[in-house]
Amino acid sequence: MKEVNVGICGLGTVGGGTFNVLERNAKLITGRTGINIRVARVATRTPRTDINLGDIPFSTDVFDVVNDASIDVVVELIGGYDTARELVLAAIENGKHVVTANKALIAVHGNEIFEAAAKKNVIVSYEAGVAGGIPVIKAVREGMAANRVDWIAGIINGTGNYILTEMRAGREFAEVLKEAQDLGYAEADPTFDVEGIDAAHKLTILASAGFGVPLQFEKAYTEGISEITPYDIAHAEVLGYRIKHLGIARRREGGIELRVHPTLVPRSHLIAQVDGVLNAVLVDGDAVGQTMYYGPGAGDEATASAVIADIIDAARAVASSSNQRVPYLGFEPEAMENLPV
Ligand code: HSE
Repeated sequence: MKEVNVGICGLGTVGGGTFNVLERNAKLITGRTGINIRVARVATRTPRTDINLGDIPFSTDVFDVVNDASIDVVVELIGGYDTARELVLAAIENGKHVVTANKALIAVHGNEIFEAAAKKNVIVSYEAGVAGGIPVIKAVREGMAANRVDWIAGIINGTGNYILTEMRAGREFAEVLKEAQDLGYAEADPTFDVEGIDAAHKLTILASAGFGVPLQFEKAYTEGISEITPYDIAHAEVLGYRIKHLGIARRREGGIELRVHPTLVPRSHLIAQVDGVLNAVLVDGDAVGQTMYYGPGAGDEATASAVIADIIDAARAVASSSNQRVPYLGFEPEAMENLPV
């Protein structure tokens, strides 16, 4: 049996979920893949007493994982920009495949990271960074690989959708945000959720995967939900609409438009029915037509589901000595003439 060693950096909401699901479903995953995916090292600055690591080596310095020669796949779940960037670039330099749930990192530093990964022939995957547990990156990049994608639109921030849903039921913005934080849905800095920054990160990544263009976060128009009042929500309902915070990427004459903002959606539309922490992404391809992907957009084990799918891809690459399974630099020459505007 092939054995692949995984090092987990960060043991917060997603790190803990990843560890637990990997442990719980170890037999099932080995049965499916023929690979023993072994957590060989864990590093976190904030140890958890509720997770039993057994005799798995543990350290408080995440760079111990990157510098451990026995590790094949580094899983970056620390979040943030700077240390995460250093960590991922160091892992790539050391020839390790990387799995990350860090949408901020990929949206802002992804072009540099993918270039480094291509040089070292390693995989960097980030499914969990967009729409939590919904495998939408795979769907757009691989499942729709035969299509010219014309637009992508969806609810891609669970915390924001949770707040809007609960406000419709009469609850206060601040109280619901606090609850979303307690449930582990919100970002470490929740202004990322309520000001649309998190959704803009995810839209940037989706657009890159769907339209085959480099990541251009700075081109996204970004507006959050912090100005939405209970009166706006009630008024929209009376007029037959629901306020949803959407990310929209669309091919336009002369470029790709990226925008994130509250939107009036007819109440009869499927997107209007997506409530709570759920996300939904609509993708329009010229061959397949309109498709919709729906499911939990945040949460420990839901996000872990996507992290582990990427770990399995990387483990298969290690076991077969190939990195060809997941393309991450698939820029379309034609699309490159139409960068986001
Ligand atoms: N804070 C994010 C959200 C977590 O609420 O959608 C998942 O990316």
